[in-house]
Amino acid sequence: MTKPQTRPRATPETGACVTVSQNGPYIVTGRVPLAKQTIVTDAEGGSQAWAQGDDYPPQEKYALCRCGHSKKKPFCDGTHAKIGFDGTETASLISSRRRSSTAPP
Ligand code: FES
Repeated sequence: MTKPQTRPRATPETGACVTVSQNGPYIVTGRVPLAKQTIVTDAEGGSQAWAQGDDYPPQEKYALCRCGHSKKKPFCDGTHAKIGFDGTETASLISSRRRSSTAPP
């Protein structure tokens, strides 16, 4: 079992909660509806819209793949551990407004 990387936050209205596990999947609890969607493209391959697909059977808890290598997407199948997935967040924690105000002209 992987350790939580971030503190889970449940929404008061639904009890839904997403936890980012350390170097592992998103753990989603609270019977959140889950459905497949695909991107509809134009003739040049540009994104046009989302097409709604089938619903997945509702579950109290899902482990959703974050590494991109699961053979059972969108669900985690444990491959992240075999490939040594590093889920370290690398995005800046500084707001874009603050970054733009300090950027050189
Ligand atoms: S996060 Fe587990 S297989 Fe991708």
